[in-house]
Amino acid sequence: MVAKVSVIQQKIQLNDAECDLRIRAAKKALGDRLVILGHHYQREEVFRHADISGDSLKLSQQAAQSDAEYIVFCGVHFMAEVADILSQPGQAVILPDLAAGCSLADMANLAKVERAWNELATVLDPDEQITPVTYINSAADLKAFCGSHGGIVCTSSNARKILDWSYAQREKVLFFPDEHLGRNTAFAMGIPLDEMVVWDFNQPMGGLTPAQIEAAKIILWKGFCSVHQMFQPAQIDRFLEKYPDAQVIAHPEASFEVCQKSHYVGSTSFIIKTITEAEPGSRWLVGTELNLVKRLHESCKHQDKSVHFMSPTICMCSTMFRIDPRQLLWALENLVAGKIVNRIRVPEDEAIQAKIALERMLAVS
Ligand code: 13P
Ligand code: SF4
Repeated sequence: MVAKVSVIQQKIQLNDAECDLRIRAAKKALGDRLVILGHHYQREEVFRHADISGDSLKLSQQAAQSDAEYIVFCGVHFMAEVADILSQPGQAVILPDLAAGCSLADMANLAKVERAWNELATVLDPDEQITPVTYINSAADLKAFCGSHGGIVCTSSNARKILDWSYAQREKVLFFPDEHLGRNTAFAMGIPLDEMVVWDFNQPMGGLTPAQIEAAKIILWKGFCSVHQMFQPAQIDRFLEKYPDAQVIAHPEASFEVCQKSHYVGSTSFIIKTITEAEPGSRWLVGTELNLVKRLHESCKHQDKSVHFMSPTICMCSTMFRIDPRQLLWALENLVAGKIVNRIRVPEDEAIQAKIALERMLAVS
């Protein structure tokens, strides 16, 4: 109760500059005992304090390599879980706001995936014929499911390599929870749309017939990221009518139609690299989260590049936005005082199986 009151007081009383100074002081006091990992979607006031920034793949690799005692994750819950699974004994992973989840990750859960697996078993032998692949945006128990069923984890930057690996194991893939990343990646590999089916987890047998399941090369879970569904093909058409020389780049969580109309499709790191290395004077329309697009706009304007956000309305990841500088300060000052707050701990039995699926991914990446 006392701790809660002090957080609220800090939130009301501290101005931005004071907060920034105190975060820096706490980081200095903790020195090498602390590493702050920051995802590209974090707001600028938090992002600037990250020791290492990156996409989901890079941050999971960094978490596995770090020897800091405290890993403070400025990102969302599933990322902190991955860091905990890959961390060494004696390390603690901290998520400054426990409500920083991911609405896409919440679209699949273990009960629904196990039900799907059992229903698929009425048509074929899943453990012989289907590799389960979970996007890293998923809860640890789904990674554990993949670990114990010969499956693997993927991120947006390695999805193609992971699908290649998956098809080398078994003839079909069950891909969850993001329908769009699965479809965009499989299509880019040459799998036609008529060999893809969508598993509607609210319907018996996913709403599919046995013949549809037998004919499918990939079974796509009907999940999506609400932020990336804001982007529409008409927004690209309008932009290109106005600026015919512009280039369009989108994250593969965007719809198939948006990705097909984009010149480039890739992870957050790929988007940053592509625009940063582009010709001075070039113009870009970007279909990913607003805070990243704003940062790119700022960092590229000195080269006369213009970076535009794809949606006409302000849409950003509200769960990434949960991590605010005051919350980060609260977590850090507690560490300075010797108290670990908001620790993320994956139960050991789950972590062992999830680690198998994550290590398969890291090896393939
Ligand atoms: P990246 O792995 O490309 O950073 O994407 C993470 C994410 O949550 C995108 O919405
Ligand atoms: Fe999850 Fe979408 Fe936010 Fe990424 S942008 S963390 S997928 S809700």
